[in-house]
Amino acid sequence: MTNYGADLLWVLIFASLGFSALAVFLSISRHRRRHPPAVPHTAGEDVAAEAARKVIREFEKNGQSADAALVTWSPETLRKILADDLPDAQVIVVSNREPYIHNVKDDGVEVKDDGVELLVPASGLVSALEPITRACAGTWIAYGGGTADRLTVDDHDRVQVPPGNPSYTLRRVWLTEEEHQGYYLGFANEGLWPLCHIAFTRPIFRASDWAAYEAVNRKFADTVVAEARNERPIVLVQDYHFALLPRMIRERLPEAIVITFWHIPWPNSEVYSICPWRERILEGLLGSSIIGFHTQFHANNFTESVDRFLESRIERADAAISYGGRTTLVHAYPISIEWPADLLAKLPAVDDCRARMRERFGLKADVKLAVGVERLDYTKGILDRFHALNELFKRQPEWIGKLVFLQIAAPSRGTLPAYKLLHDECHRYAEELNRRYGSEGYRPVIMVAEHHSQEQVYEIYRAADICMVTSLHDGMNLVAKEFVAARDDEQGVLMLSTFAGASRELLEALIVNPYDAAMMSGALLQALTMSPEEQRERMRPMRETIRNNNVYRWAGSMLLDAARLRKRGDLDRVTGAVSDPPPSVDNVVSIFERRRVAMS
Ligand code: F6P
Repeated sequence: MTNYGADLLWVLIFASLGFSALAVFLSISRHRRRHPPAVPHTAGEDVAAEAARKVIREFEKNGQSADAALVTWSPETLRKILADDLPDAQVIVVSNREPYIHNVKDDGVEVKDDGVELLVPASGLVSALEPITRACAGTWIAYGGGTADRLTVDDHDRVQVPPGNPSYTLRRVWLTEEEHQGYYLGFANEGLWPLCHIAFTRPIFRASDWAAYEAVNRKFADTVVAEARNERPIVLVQDYHFALLPRMIRERLPEAIVITFWHIPWPNSEVYSICPWRERILEGLLGSSIIGFHTQFHANNFTESVDRFLESRIERADAAISYGGRTTLVHAYPISIEWPADLLAKLPAVDDCRARMRERFGLKADVKLAVGVERLDYTKGILDRFHALNELFKRQPEWIGKLVFLQIAAPSRGTLPAYKLLHDECHRYAEELNRRYGSEGYRPVIMVAEHHSQEQVYEIYRAADICMVTSLHDGMNLVAKEFVAARDDEQGVLMLSTFAGASRELLEALIVNPYDAAMMSGALLQALTMSPEEQRERMRPMRETIRNNNVYRWAGSMLLDAARLRKRGDLDRVTGAVSDPPPSVDNVVSIFERRRVAMS
């Protein structure tokens, strides 16, 4: 390039920089002319505006953000969130099933000297919520269904738990036989349970069950109000037993943060439409500040149902529904388990567990052990495991004598016809397989229809070569996660239904369709012949996933969102965005509006 050419280039560069600077200056002054400050800012307004920006920023990075992955989630983290972000907040958990059941001796498992036995129920919900309630030193309100429950409470129907090392209060609610029949067995388990699970069991809706459901929800609302130490508790409502409770709480404690977690799937709106009280259920749930589901898919189904049956405003981008003057956030929070599991420290080494279980069930050394562990429920795909086993033995007869399937099935809802039928079918099919493929000293199927403690269950997981989680439909399924947690030796194969929420996270499992017996038998064969190296390669990332997404993160994410809502509510009151009172008006929408204005 000549000198003249180089000079010209520099002139052009400076000229273009000059034009750019001029353009920026003109654009700023144009913007100022278009948006002049109406009145000079006061110091108070600046503080409020800064606070609003902070809240919006906080709101935008929710608990599932990348930041959350950097946190080590533990009981300590939860305590810190409560202390820093929700000071003085009382945490109240409400569920149907209580975490500790006291029975008169011989009804349960662990015998105590005073004629009372203690039972920890086989419930994913209980095992997830228990460590959280301990960490928060909260109050847990639940139905007192044990035969010795009344004997073990104080004058206020409270008992301190866990027994021996109490850290929170269990408040028991008493129900009459009729109430329990109508609300729990009837509406919750013959109506909502089959409605929400795709398992092809017809839901049954009776007006008398609905009346009991409503009355029991009201009874629990009364108890929440009685247990609340002030107007602003954080109430964690659990599951399909309490769809009406959030609104009932909201009416009585308008300043409460109500977080409702729906532990089972939510059906699509066409299926949901068959429920005769569909609008009432949605209205009840929309009394919540936040509604959580295990998966985004079920959160979306819920939003679709609201869209179809209620006059509401849905902010899809913000995952918020406004109905009747208040707003509810609808989020996915995948539930998990305690990690590290306290329990593991108490258990024998894997080899010892194997030896003990092999002895207990009379298994020869060269026999592989596949296990299934759950409540005896038609959504779990237990019969489908039997089909798969039958298919495997037909196709690969060399496995006859070399594989035993152990089904641990905790008795559940046994008075309902659908469950009786399943019980009979399972036993009949197990006997048939044993007749067909069994021989002297060899039974291919062992059914143990008994309650097992968490320790016993973990011991079985550690002894197993394969764990079969083949739900026809499941919100999450914590058995899958527990099996992985139990295998600190990084061995064992997880077969996992594609229709369980856990399959969205545990990607290295052998993912199966329980309706496809041929495919399931193929997966069984793959599991039986998988090398220890491949087992380790699959187990390791699954353990990593659960380690990073333990139950403390599940609860912590909801508590962080609750803290944001509370700050936002407080801020709205300070900035006058809410008429004061009524504090019952939730102002999520007003924040959304302001954000939109700020961004436009
Ligand atoms: O799956 C949801 C859930 O609430 C589980 O937590 C629990 O295992 C089950 O349903 C309820 O069982 P039960 O009727 O025995 O309390």
